[in-house]
Amino acid sequence: MPNAAAVSNEILRPHLEINGESRLFGKLRVSGAKNSALVLMTAALLTEEKVKLLNLPQLTDIEGMSNILVNMGVKSSRKLGEIELQAEEINNSEPPYELVHELRASFFCIGPLLGRLGKAKIPLPGGCRIGARPVIEHIRGLKALGAVVNVEHGVVKASVPGIKRKLKGASIVFDCPSVGATETVLMAAVLAEGTSTIENAAQEPEVQDLAKMLNCMGARIRGAGGPTITVEGVESLHGCEYEVIPDRIEAGTLLIAAAITRSPLQIFPVIPKHLRAVLQKLTDCGCKIKVDQETVFIHPEEIIGVDITTQPFPGFPTDLQAPFMALLSTAKGTSVVTEKIYENRLQHVSELQRMGASIRVQGNTAVIEGVPQLSAARIVASDLRSAAAMVLASLAAKGTSRLEGLDHLDRGYENLEKKLNFAGANIKRND
Ligand code: EPZ
Repeated sequence: MPNAAAVSNEILRPHLEINGESRLFGKLRVSGAKNSALVLMTAALLTEEKVKLLNLPQLTDIEGMSNILVNMGVKSSRKLGEIELQAEEINNSEPPYELVHELRASFFCIGPLLGRLGKAKIPLPGGCRIGARPVIEHIRGLKALGAVVNVEHGVVKASVPGIKRKLKGASIVFDCPSVGATETVLMAAVLAEGTSTIENAAQEPEVQDLAKMLNCMGARIRGAGGPTITVEGVESLHGCEYEVIPDRIEAGTLLIAAAITRSPLQIFPVIPKHLRAVLQKLTDCGCKIKVDQETVFIHPEEIIGVDITTQPFPGFPTDLQAPFMALLSTAKGTSVVTEKIYENRLQHVSELQRMGASIRVQGNTAVIEGVPQLSAARIVASDLRSAAAMVLASLAAKGTSRLEGLDHLDRGYENLEKKLNFAGANIKRND
């Protein structure tokens, strides 16, 4: 039996109280993209000059990245929605384990450090709850550019031989179109001698955003957004002011919030072509969608089951698989969801089952029989996107749910509960 102190500690754990059977209305603003912002921040290491990022989301992951850069000697100043970074001098190319182990994106520093200084030592980010997430492709790419890379005691040690410590342009064909590896090699290749080509590159909008910002800094990159990217190395880069793209995953999450509560909603700003696969699936399952420039209007009608397979962009994004599964739990009929990117990204299933969802799992496939009504429960988020899925399921459920694991939610959603409350939800945070 747990003692009284243990029970009261449990009650005090930070959580959301989410009232169910909500109806939403109005227009919701999407924040800047977390996965763009994180990599754009590391690109500031490539120049001595000031880099200013606008539309920066306020998230604990952004805070973590800022701490890592400051630890390396980067000057950082922040205002709401903005950050100025200046890597005039980098006095430490070995960020400590304590700062990097929780933040996989910290590994992105290796590309710019090698390009600018010719050396870097970064602790391996390690596995995470959704899968093993190796960095073999990043390392293969850096080796192709001439770096000597060894992994010792959990630390990746990379250096460029020679007096000039300059990487050399090369041709790289990735085994899989890894987002992080494409971004790492792009940032390393911009200051290399000669031309590099990356084949089987990731085509995600965040890769395109990075290439666009690097070009604003004086880089010569062509083809980002397609499978082959060419980088002509330049001598140096300069500072820039750059606006982070809207977060397509947050936009998708808000659209699914509208669908699961059967509420009409407007979501802005978005870049509609970043959301094509998601808008298609929302249409297929019974939502009327209208796109007008930067705004998506969603009008859900009866939601019917659809099948989903996660894929690299432009396919359906793995980062919306959990939220969409919450929606399909309430759909009429059967849906089949197959997770193809990560080996362990179905952990939300057991929590959805606790809310009355009818889901069978076989390997990386979930078969969902929609139920007419989910019921509120005490639930725990196991990762960022499962946290979002739990919030959405709770908005639809009968009764008041209690969601723990808010540290996951706060890594990647800026004020999610405030935004939803603004649109008519009733969510209370107890910190
Ligand atoms: C980025 O991770 C995102 N993170 C992830 O967002 C997102 O899920 C993922 O891209 C896919 O879209 C950031 O941008 C910070 P990958 P990344 O390298 O770059 C395998 C979220 O919820 N692979 O494209 O780490 C890997 O195991 C998150 O916001 C190799 O096999 O993703 C995975 O199965 C989570 N070898 C697949 O490729 C490698 O060397 C995709 O990984 C590298 C990757």
